[in-house]
Amino acid sequence: MSYENIKVETQNAVAVVTVNRPDKLNALNDRTMDELDQAFAAIGADPAVQGVILTGAGEKAFVAGADIAELSTQSPVDGRERSLRGQRILDRIENLGKPVVAAVNGFALGGGCELAMACHVRVASENAKLGTPEVKLGIMCGYAGTQRLARLVGKGRALELLLTGDMADAQEAYRIGLVNKVVPRDQLLAESEALLRKMLANGPVSLRFTLDAVNRGLEMPFAEAQAHEATLFGLICTTEDMKEGTKAFLEKRPAKFQGK
Ligand code: COA
Repeated sequence: MSYENIKVETQNAVAVVTVNRPDKLNALNDRTMDELDQAFAAIGADPAVQGVILTGAGEKAFVAGADIAELSTQSPVDGRERSLRGQRILDRIENLGKPVVAAVNGFALGGGCELAMACHVRVASENAKLGTPEVKLGIMCGYAGTQRLARLVGKGRALELLLTGDMADAQEAYRIGLVNKVVPRDQLLAESEALLRKMLANGPVSLRFTLDAVNRGLEMPFAEAQAHEATLFGLICTTEDMKEGTKAFLEKRPAKFQGK
């Protein structure tokens, strides 16, 4: 598949998706969002891809937000549609069933911060800056940032960032739990891949079900989330991976998971 505003490169079961509009700091215009939607749909359906790294092109930005030129002319109806569509695309990423690591290589602002938060973990380079400056533009988060930020860092810290529009530098983002680790700029992709490959060494079904248990479970009352977890646990006991993983331990050898 060929794209104009993103790049997708797959190597050894890992797809690297790069938002590629560096002259606009990788701002998410409608076309870029469509391409991300198509790319993640294809990755989700491709058994040869087991995990994803999402990053931005150029030296300055992961993604500096939704495209303000497009936002500036939107009607209320356009705005609602754009918000719903963006939410759906980020939901697709969050519910991909395969781990997605955001390699945050610079500004991750507004829609860019929301995009990074839809990924399962975030590795930031030392120059990264994250925030939700929408209020400075007289708008607000529309890609579920109000919800994901509060769930990730807690309501008080989320509201501070959401209401001031301030950017957190990489260390502050790490301190409040907005990113999982901070690494030197020249090691960002290698560190992101190392973290992803550590996950991919485990059973693919285990990863898929764990993502499902966390994603869905956090939206349920605790008792229902426990019941959901128990159902998935029962289901995983039917898999070849479960037989192989437990057998390999008992035979003191590494497991060879098939994702079945
Ligand atoms: N939408 C559209 N274009 C954007 C953009 C966005 N969110 N963010 C940056 N750009 C464009 C700029 O307009 C500029 O384009 P130009 O060269 O054609 O004028 C180019 O990207 C470079 O940005 P610039 O502002 O010159 O870089 P900077 O290093 O001086 O500042 C930022 C970097 C991130 C602080 C600044 O670009 C910014 O504040 N961007 C908007 C962030 C934002 O509010 N995001 C939330 C949107 S909902």
